[in-house]
Order: sequence, then C-alpha cells, then structure tokens
Amino acid sequence: MGSPIETLIRDAITRGVEALATFNRKRMPAPTHANPFLTGIHAPMTEERTLTELVVTGTIPAGLDGRYLRIGPNPVAPDPAAYHWFIGDGMVHGVALTDGRALWYRNRWIRSNAVASARGVVPAPGPRHVFDTVNTNVVDIDGRTFALVEAGSYPVELGETLDDQRYNPFDGTLQGSFSAHPHRDPKTGEQHAICYEGREPGTIRHVVIDATGQVIREEPVAVKHGPMIHDCAITDRFVIILDLPVTFSMKALISGHGFPYRWNPGHAARVGLMPRHGRQEDIIWCPVTPGYAFHVANAHDTEDGQVILDLCVYDTMFGDDAQGPDARSRGLERWTIAPASRTVTIRTLDAAPQEFPRPDERFFGQPYRHVWSLALPADPASRFLGATALYAHDLTTGERQIHDFGTNRHPGEFVFVPETADSPEGHGWLIGFVIDMATETTDLVILDARRFQEPPVATIHLPHRIPPGFHGNWIRNETR
Ligand SMILES: [Fe+2]
Repeated sequence: MGSPIETLIRDAITRGVEALATFNRKRMPAPTHANPFLTGIHAPMTEERTLTELVVTGTIPAGLDGRYLRIGPNPVAPDPAAYHWFIGDGMVHGVALTDGRALWYRNRWIRSNAVASARGVVPAPGPRHVFDTVNTNVVDIDGRTFALVEAGSYPVELGETLDDQRYNPFDGTLQGSFSAHPHRDPKTGEQHAICYEGREPGTIRHVVIDATGQVIREEPVAVKHGPMIHDCAITDRFVIILDLPVTFSMKALISGHGFPYRWNPGHAARVGLMPRHGRQEDIIWCPVTPGYAFHVANAHDTEDGQVILDLCVYDTMFGDDAQGPDARSRGLERWTIAPASRTVTIRTLDAAPQEFPRPDERFFGQPYRHVWSLALPADPASRFLGATALYAHDLTTGERQIHDFGTNRHPGEFVFVPETADSPEGHGWLIGFVIDMATETTDLVILDARRFQEPPVATIHLPHRIPPGFHGNWIRNETR
C-alpha cells in the first residue's frame, strides 16, 4: 500500500476494526480464574520508589561503573479479561553501581499517554507511532539509553535517573516501528534489527543504525500474514530473518484480545539469509521445520560457507487464547543453514526447557563458546513460572553447568558483562534479578561467570518484589 487513496482506505478500515475490537473487549466475559499475569509473582507494583540505602552482601566488583536496567510489564489499570503479559505498561527498574557501592534503586513507569492519564502526570514528550506502550528491552545505543518495543511505538530515550523520558525515533531518522532486539555488530558498531508493524502485515524492514545512533538503512522485505518477528541475528555476511508461524490474527483482534498474534499452521516456516547490503530479491529463503523462537543466542558464518544459528525454540506458540506464552520448549538448538542447498539442519544442543539465551556480546555474529540462559519449568501450563536456575553452556565441550538459587527464588534473564573491554570471552560477571517469593523481596545478583556454580560475589537486596519482566542490560558509565 502506498498511494494516498490506499492509505485513506486503510486508515478508515483500521479505525473501524479498532472500534469493533474496543466494543468486543468491553463485552468479553469476565475471567473464571485470576489472570496469572496479574496475580502472585506477577502482581504489579503500585508506586515508583527511589532507594539510596541499599543492603549489600558480598563485594561489588569495583570495575562495575554504571547502571543495571531492566524493563517489563507493570500495568497501571489492566482489564483482566483482555490482559496479555506482552501488552502491559512498561516499567524500568534500575540499580546504579560505582566504586564497589550500590548508589540507588529506582523504578519508573514509561509515561505513555495511558500511564500518564491513569497516574495524573504529564506524558513523556515526543512523537507517537501506532501505539506508545514500551515494555520489552532497554539498551545503550551510542551512549544513550533507549527503552524499546516491537510492532509499533517509537523508542523512548531515558535520562540517567529514568525520570527524563522522551519518545525519540533516533532523532527523526527512523521511518516506522522498531524492534526490541537490535544487535550491535562489534566489528562495525552498527546495530541491526528486523522490524515489523502491526498495521503492515505484508512488509517487514531491515533497519540499520550507524555507530552515531542514526538510522542509515530501512530495507523493506515482503512477507505474508504479518509474522511476529521478535529477534534476528547477524553474521559477517548476513542478517538472519526468522519468518515463523506466529502471525497477526484479525479474529483475535476483533474479538477484543489485547495481543492479536496466534500460531498459524498455514504460514510456512522459513529462515531468510539477507546479505547485509542486499535487497529482498537477494534473500536466500530456507524452509525449516515449524516452531517458534523468541530469542537467538548467536550466529556466525563457517569457513565452508554455511551459517550457524543458535536459538531457543518452542514446538508452537500462542496456540490458544492464552494470556502469555503457552507452548513446550524444545530447548537450545543449533540450526545449520546451507545457503547453496537452502536447507536447515536442526541439532539439539540442550533439550532442557530454557529461554533468554545471552552470549558475551563482544562476539556477536562471530564464532563463540559461551552462552547463558534461564531454565524454564517443563510444564507449558506453568507459563514460564517456577524454575529457579540459570544454565551456563560451554559450546566447545558440550558441558552445561547449573546455578540453582533454591526454593522460591526465581531468576530472570541474566546479562554477561566483561570484566574489561579486552578480557577473554566469558571472563566477567553475570547480572540479573532474583525474586524471592517467600519474603516478597528481590535481589540484584552478581555472579562470577568463571565460577558460575559458586555463591554470588555480590547481592544487592531490594525490599520489595519486582514482578518478572523481559530484558535487562548493563549500561556502562562512559566519558564521552
Ligand atoms: Fe525478547
């Protein structure tokens, strides 16, 4: 769709669909059970806090100078019938560390129009695009901090203390939606993302941001059915597109569901190898066994011309009217993609259910050895809740180590932070939140990645429960 008339027609149809969805949302039957993503461990926080007297156990590594930031859904006024975990109002949690001390903890809602209205505060300034709920990732791009979401909203630039917020499409250089998972190429400093937009089911975009934080490429790619593409990967030659069978569902939207994506067995699963500077006609599309992946661990080219892609995979996803993830994890897999024959060979690296794989990102797009991930409970009905462990995978030896936090202690994603910029791969820290359900408190835990199974080197204790969220990163303080 491109002409003004087509745009007018589309906008009119969109308004009609949205009105119908809103009408039906109000008529959805009251839930017969508590929404699991609004109760228990997920019960949202009801206030913003600033804490400066933090209790610390152990020794915070003196080299950690910056902020650990993690974002997730924390709805202000959700409708339990229509609420899906992925659509909750975003809240950022931050802990600042320097010189071996914990300076502060802060949590702040992303001030979307709805959050600002509900809380009686001024919305964050800046342009809006499609929607303005931002809840999925918080990253450093060129020394600036951005909160991110896929499928619509522009990014939100955050100030040091999280109070300053501004919707910012990379200084006006971004034309459309963005992704929650841009990946930085350590060789070039460029960020690569595959972006989709809820209102454009026939097109996705390869977006590249240069080392100064400006968009330098938005290359369209034609797709069918509006696939939900959460993540991507890069190699020296390619950006890898995961076109898998979770697609936009008009039926779900019109029925009033807040999250309109569903498993679609009629959508052919395929992986695309797009030359980094190529166009859509250059993409090498390779059929793959159906499944769904939110997150890649890493990818790289091999000397014999193949492409290695490691990722966490599910047999299906969003197959029912669930309020969150609902499928069986196939574990951590290695997909070997042969461009010449357009085939994908799948090998299970670890069949244990797991999510949030993170490598040492200085090796993103390159051969690598280490990946850390979060254990998931085996039963899909548990919807991600209940596991208490992290995994450390050594892909060279095939060894897997387990760090179990113990009964009632539930970790989220942990991020790897190198000890110094030129430390060998895997020499550094693993940082993340662990929720203690027995005490309704949360710890920011720092593990030594090389002594993964030993007790944490430091634990910063927070006196309240932080609901499970999505992604966190270490944002280093830098003199720029
Ligand atoms: Fe994600």
